[in-house]
This record gives sequence, C-alpha cells and structure tokens, in this order.
Amino acid sequence: MLNCLATVLGLFICVLLLFMAAPYIRRYMAGGVCKSTTKLNGKVVVITGANAGIGKETARDLAQRGARVIIACRDMAKGEAAAREIRAETRNQQVIVKKLDLADTKSIREFAENFLAEEKALHILINNAGVMLCPYSKTADGFEMHLGVNHLGHFLLTFLLLECLKQSAPARIVNVSSLAHHAGRIRFHDLQGEKCYNWGLAYCHSKLANVLFTRELARRLQGTGVTANSLHPGSVHSELVRHSSLMTLLWKIFYFFLKTPREGAQTSVYCAVAEELESVTGQYFRWAEVLDLLWWGRRVQLRCFWGVRIRGVGKVRL
Ligand SMILES: NC(=O)c1ccc[n+]([C@@H]2O[C@H](COP(=O)([O-])OP(=O)(O)OC[C@H]3O[C@@H](n4cnc5c(N)ncnc54)[C@H](OP(=O)(O)O)[C@@H]3O)[C@@H](O)[C@H]2O)c1
Repeated sequence: MLNCLATVLGLFICVLLLFMAAPYIRRYMAGGVCKSTTKLNGKVVVITGANAGIGKETARDLAQRGARVIIACRDMAKGEAAAREIRAETRNQQVIVKKLDLADTKSIREFAENFLAEEKALHILINNAGVMLCPYSKTADGFEMHLGVNHLGHFLLTFLLLECLKQSAPARIVNVSSLAHHAGRIRFHDLQGEKCYNWGLAYCHSKLANVLFTRELARRLQGTGVTANSLHPGSVHSELVRHSSLMTLLWKIFYFFLKTPREGAQTSVYCAVAEELESVTGQYFRWAEVLDLLWWGRRVQLRCFWGVRIRGVGKVRL
C-alpha cells in the first residue's frame, strides 16, 4: 500500500516538474531565429513542397524579403491556397505555383523545361519536399518511394537546373535532410528495398542520401559560385507523419515540445540568406551550427553512391 502511494506521488511530482519546466523546454526546442536582414528583391527562388509545413513557412519568409518565389508542388489546389495566403500577407505578388511531382521523373523534366523557358535566373533552390513512414510503394519510375521522392527526384531536379544556377551565381542550393540520417545506410545490394523494407529506416536512408549528395555536389561545384548545404530543421509539428497513426498520435501528445513550422523553417532560411554563409559549402547544419559527422565509411559510400544514382535517373551531366 505504502509502495503504491509512493509510486503515485513520484509520478505526480514528475508530471508537475515536467509542466513547470515546459516553457523552458519549449523555448529550447524552438531553436534560433534567422536574424539576417538580407533582402531578396530581384532574386528567384524555387522551393519544393512549399504548399505546406516547413516549405510553406520558408516561402513566406523569402517572399517577405522580396524574392520571386516559385512554389513547386504536386497538389496545385493546396499550392494556390498557400500562394494566395502568402501574397496577401507579404504583399508580394511574385509568389507563383508550378506543378512538380517528385515521384515522377517526367513531371520533374516538364517542371525544369517550363522553368528554364519562363525564368531568366535561379538564385536559391530549396529541396524541401519529403515523405516519411510510407508503406512500401514505388514512384512512377520504379524507385522505392522515400529514396525516389526525398532524394532521387531532388537529385534530378538539381541537375536539370544546375546550369541556370551557375549562370545566376552567386547562388545557393539548400537540401532539407534530417537528424534521422544518422540511422541511415546506403544499401547498395538492395537500394529499392525489395529484399528487406522497413518504413522508418527507408526514410533514414533517403535522408543520408541527401547529406552525401550535398557533400559531393559541393565538391563538384567548387569555383562556380554555387554553394550546396544540407540541414536538420528540428522536430516540427507538420503533416510529415501522416502515414503513421502512432506517430500522428505522438505528435499530438507532444505537440507542445515540437517546433511550429515557422520555427522549423528558420534553418532553411538561414542557409538560404545568411551573409556569413556566402562561401560556406558542403556543410550540414543544425540551426546555425555546422556539424561534421561524416565518418570515413560514409565518405566511401558517397563516392560509390554517386555512380549508382547517376545510372538510376538516366542521363544527367555535371
Ligand atoms: N517535421 C519534422 O519534424 C522534420 C524533421 C526533420 C526533417 N524534416 C524534413 O523537412 C522537410 C519538410 O517536411 P515537413 O515537416 O514540412 O512535412 P510536410 O508538412 O508533410 O511537407 C512535405 C511537403 O512535401 C510535399 N511532397 C511530398 N511528396 C511529394 C512529391 N511526390 N512531389 C512533390 N512534393 C511532395 C508535400 O506535398 P503534399 O502536401 O501534396 O503531400 C508537402 O508539401 C522534409 O524533407 C522532411 O523530411 C522534417
């Protein structure tokens, strides 16, 4: 009886302490705010998956700075609604929506073709769109969905827009990865997860691919005036967990400890505009902090992966 009372009292004290500490934990989780006052008038920005979550808030911030923002998304209705909201709030009429489905290389090529025909320059490309915890499925071209959308789609898009970025230099490529990349591996023997598939790990593998891609791309772009960096936005309350009821529930319960999408967009904005990052390239950011966690094995994977990937998406040349 006494033991039971002690347990209940202990639990009560823990919950009480958690509630008392909540505002401090919340402030810590919110992370930093991009303080750069850089204006982007006359600059052209493409953000993938900017109809929702972190991407939408990144678009809002860059539109506020005067950029011409192209929301590249697969759901045109959601994209138009986001663009209308951003145009009304920022009074920037240069926020437009273009169709891009990263799960279909035909759509990616069409997007790039239209972009190159209509726009004169590209100064910032933010590869933000992503999927997480999807049941096993494949893209239109037969790639496993996480690898196909989160990485290969962005890989192809970047290469199709690369000459334009080089001609518009100084220009920046920002790849939104995740802390989850630490649990990722490049499984050369089973890249499409056909022999063994785990929906959580598939996300981690694709996010590792984002980091490795950024490293190698930055190396190949040395001297062109185009930089490439990747980042972890933090744990953000968004629609990313929609495919898992458990994660959706956990996201609701721990809502208070998660970043808002606007807070989550700060690292993307920082990488896109901060003056001090003008010539910083090939890095992985967690807020304004550079983390170098690529150990030797990962560096070897990087070189091998580059070759495999180029074969995967057809003809692309740097
Ligand atoms: N939220 C987090 O805690 C967290 C943590 C680490 C990293 N990240 C990364 O942050 C990025 C943004 O995620 P978020 O949290 O903002 O999630 P979100 O609200 O679900 O936004 C993801 C965006 O990607 C788009 N997208 C998905 N599949 C696409 C496709 N085939 N073609 C084009 N667009 C597609 C979605 O479009 P629809 O609306 O049409 O689905 C949506 O606009 C992702 O790369 C994610 O991996 C997020």
